Amino acid sequence: MDLAKVERVYTSYAKVYDRIFGKVFHEGRQSIIQNLNVQPHEKILEVGVGTGLALPMYPRHCQIVGIDFSEGMLDQAKQKAAEHRMDHVELHRMDAGEMEFKDDSFDTVVAAYVVTAVPDYRKVVSEMIRVCRPGGRIIMLNHFSNDNKAIAAIEKVLSPLTKHLGWRTDLALQTVLDGTPLHVTRKQHVNPLRLWALVECVNKKNVNGKTHVNGVKNANGAVGYAHINGSRLSEQASGQALG
Ligand SMILES: C[S@@+](CC[C@H](N)C(=O)[O-])C[C@H]1O[C@@H](n2cnc3c(N)ncnc32)[C@H](O)[C@@H]1O
Repeated sequence: MDLAKVERVYTSYAKVYDRIFGKVFHEGRQSIIQNLNVQPHEKILEVGVGTGLALPMYPRHCQIVGIDFSEGMLDQAKQKAAEHRMDHVELHRMDAGEMEFKDDSFDTVVAAYVVTAVPDYRKVVSEMIRVCRPGGRIIMLNHFSNDNKAIAAIEKVLSPLTKHLGWRTDLALQTVLDGTPLHVTRKQHVNPLRLWALVECVNKKNVNGKTHVNGVKNANGAVGYAHINGSRLSEQASGQALG
């Protein structure tokens, strides 16, 4: 799936998205925010904010920036923000794989049902790490492939089909985390059949003044993440083109 497809697929869902994916995935979104203990003036980034279903659940004392690549999804989010008079929310059309924010811009970065819906999860997770301050929180809510090998095999078979619907089913949490400076502090199974996981991490980049430098191979043999001086993912550093 490339960015043109993200725009096409998600914009075609936009007007019916809340009816299809609202209630059924509500528990996960609610669990993220209920447990965040958001501090006054905390800066929160919602990556792949979609139609903004989670936005009304945040307390108004924080600042929220939501980004999405789909114009149609973002229009729905803008309508919600206007209806609920959410002056603490800013919304921008932006590629999560190449964000326009400076390093360390946010205290907390949330990606709900996003890492399996983007063209390149490595770019997106690298960017989430870059724009989140050291010691900040990164929360991913997603269906990750199952630990059970038989179910994981079925998910792998289904993935080429679900890609046409806008997401993949074959991505393992460990594959996403390998080679990152993310330290998991909480993992909770949510939503129907407990097939989705809410994973809260601390961003341990630049810990003790040491920059996280990395270009390791992850579990799939795919190149991992590279962070030099906390800046944008460096293809040079890993020695391979990512994508
Ligand atoms: C399954 S929806 C999740 C929406 C919302 N977070 C929710 O809780 O319902 C995935 C969203 O990610 C967005 N998306 C996919 N790739 C993206 C990218 N590279 N940059 C920004 N948004 C992207 C899609 O447009 C879509 O709105």
